[in-house]
Amino acid sequence: MTDYHGLNAQLAALTEGVPHPISNLANAAALIWHSLPELNWAGFYLLEGKKLVLGPFQGKTACIEIPLGRGVCGTAAAEDRTLVVADVHCFRGHIACDSASNSEIVIPLHKNGAVAGVLDVDSPRKDRFSEEDRLGLEAFAAILERQNFLPAL
Ligand code: SME
Repeated sequence: MTDYHGLNAQLAALTEGVPHPISNLANAAALIWHSLPELNWAGFYLLEGKKLVLGPFQGKTACIEIPLGRGVCGTAAAEDRTLVVADVHCFRGHIACDSASNSEIVIPLHKNGAVAGVLDVDSPRKDRFSEEDRLGLEAFAAILERQNFLPAL
């Protein structure tokens, strides 16, 4: 079980008043990576036109561009909703950046009311992400949205 109350308090304290979006996203990825057990990737993709582009992350190197509507990330962004995928091998169009990934959660991030990127967290364990994880990570994303989390594109 993850202490999301503590994690989200740390994120708010770390990013409060920091006018450096890339630094905030890099620290946010590191916080998740070191706070949630059983992960193999945690990070961000940022929307540029009709593509998601790789942002700060922890884990193995990942694909750089994901078209809107493609994979779990592109689908979550296009449909503007959180996707919790218990078994990525059963998700049509899943993009396997790291073959160790078996489950995944993707949460859209908004700027001025529109989708501006996603938070993507992957696990080697099937069905890793519970309802509690979804609520905790959505609250995490909401803190980033309140900060100046995106570079001007
Ligand atoms: N699996 C993702 C691609 C990003 S990586 O997992 C880091 C997807 O299907 O969108």
